[in-house]
Amino acid sequence: MTVQPLPLRDLPADLDRDRLPQHVAVVMDGNGRWAKNRGLPRTMGHRQGVSALKEILRCCDDWGIGALTAYAFSTENWRRPHSEVDFLMTLFEHVLWQELQEMMRENVRIWFAGDVASLPQSLQRAIAQSVEATQHNQGIHFTVAINYGGRQEIVQACRTIANQVKEGILDPNEIDEALFSRYLYTTNVRDPDLLIRTSGEMRISNFLLWQTAYAEIYITDTLWPDFDRAAFHQALLAYQKRDRRFGGIKS
Ligand code: IPE
Ligand code: IPE
Ligand code: MG
Repeated sequence: MTVQPLPLRDLPADLDRDRLPQHVAVVMDGNGRWAKNRGLPRTMGHRQGVSALKEILRCCDDWGIGALTAYAFSTENWRRPHSEVDFLMTLFEHVLWQELQEMMRENVRIWFAGDVASLPQSLQRAIAQSVEATQHNQGIHFTVAINYGGRQEIVQACRTIANQVKEGILDPNEIDEALFSRYLYTTNVRDPDLLIRTSGEMRISNFLLWQTAYAEIYITDTLWPDFDRAAFHQALLAYQKRDRRFGGIKS
């Protein structure tokens, strides 16, 4: 008997379901410019950015993409005016509480990458609560990178490993790439296959420095609040045209 694969909801016919990325990472950039273009305060761009993220999360789930990681706040974003940072922290907290029931209904498992302990206490509570509530969900693995910096992540992994060596828990000869990966915030998810950056900036801005070693990079001029299903579809089409060689020769 042949087992029919589960139908994927509304997967565009020109996408090959067997060659979809398993993990997509997004640098959600351009919220400020989106608002500025409309004569609105930057905060409105961030609000609209949340809607775009919800839509892309749902789209990944519909199309059978198992993991999404979204860059929400970098370790460098503290350099922004206090008012914008405060707005973002409050927005993250509000959205987490507001969306928790929906995430439960949709079977989303949420996780956070970054130095969470340095965030406001009330936001830390929302983070802890949402991780705990969704930890047994079997659906999409959704990671929010918040107070995240790729260098900071690598340094904290080194510090933990060094302490374990010092305490005699770990033998330095056991340290290899697989072990090191387990000390990163993304310990429980495979490396991204596709990295999307919106708003046209050709840089990585300290995102997933280790994990994107062989990710396909897709940069679009579309500003994050405008990044919808159609834009994501284009990114996936571009991804499926790539020849992923991993240092080998053309397949
Ligand atoms: C990305 O949009 C969101 C965060 C960094 C929190 P920006 O706020 O960087 O928007 P632009 O780049 O100024 O347009
Ligand atoms: C990257 O965007 C960080 C997030 C999207 C959270 P930035 O707007 O902070 O990046 P730069 O400053 O243009 O490199
Ligand atoms: Mg930006």
